[in-house]
Amino acid sequence: MSTTHASERAARYDRVAVQLADLFEKTADPTARMATAVALLHHKMPHFFWTGFYRLVDGDLVVGPYQGPLACQVLEREKGVCWAAARRGAPVLVPNVHEFPGHIACDARSQSEVVVPLRDGAGRIVGVLDVDSEQLAAFGEADVAGLERIATMIYGP
Ligand code: SME
Repeated sequence: MSTTHASERAARYDRVAVQLADLFEKTADPTARMATAVALLHHKMPHFFWTGFYRLVDGDLVVGPYQGPLACQVLEREKGVCWAAARRGAPVLVPNVHEFPGHIACDARSQSEVVVPLRDGAGRIVGVLDVDSEQLAAFGEADVAGLERIATMIYGP
């Protein structure tokens, strides 16, 4: 991704975050916020093919609000990109999902992926925000930073 491209993308995340901050004044309900965030991201970001949350429920990663094709409802434990991000408590950027050991293919069209942890108000990891693209190497640091910022807002003020 060129610098210009990255800065355009960062500006797009800025606009989404500003719009979400306004929308989130209506409610602090995390499900409503997750649904609103994925709807806005999915429609504003042309490189997003699947956009959604997986939530930790009784030790499983269970799908939450999402946009895009039908997804796996429960992810096999300790496998794939979402579990890697949840376990590490850090973002995972995957330029080619076919080269990621244990990647869980919910849709064969996904080629690259970025996942950031979702934390509650106390800083505990309660899930992840996951985005897939139909193109290889579709995501970069601008996406990591933008998605981390938006994930922080879900349980924010
Ligand atoms: N690919 C993810 C699973 C979720 S789908 O991308 C919607 C993973 O390996 O954890």
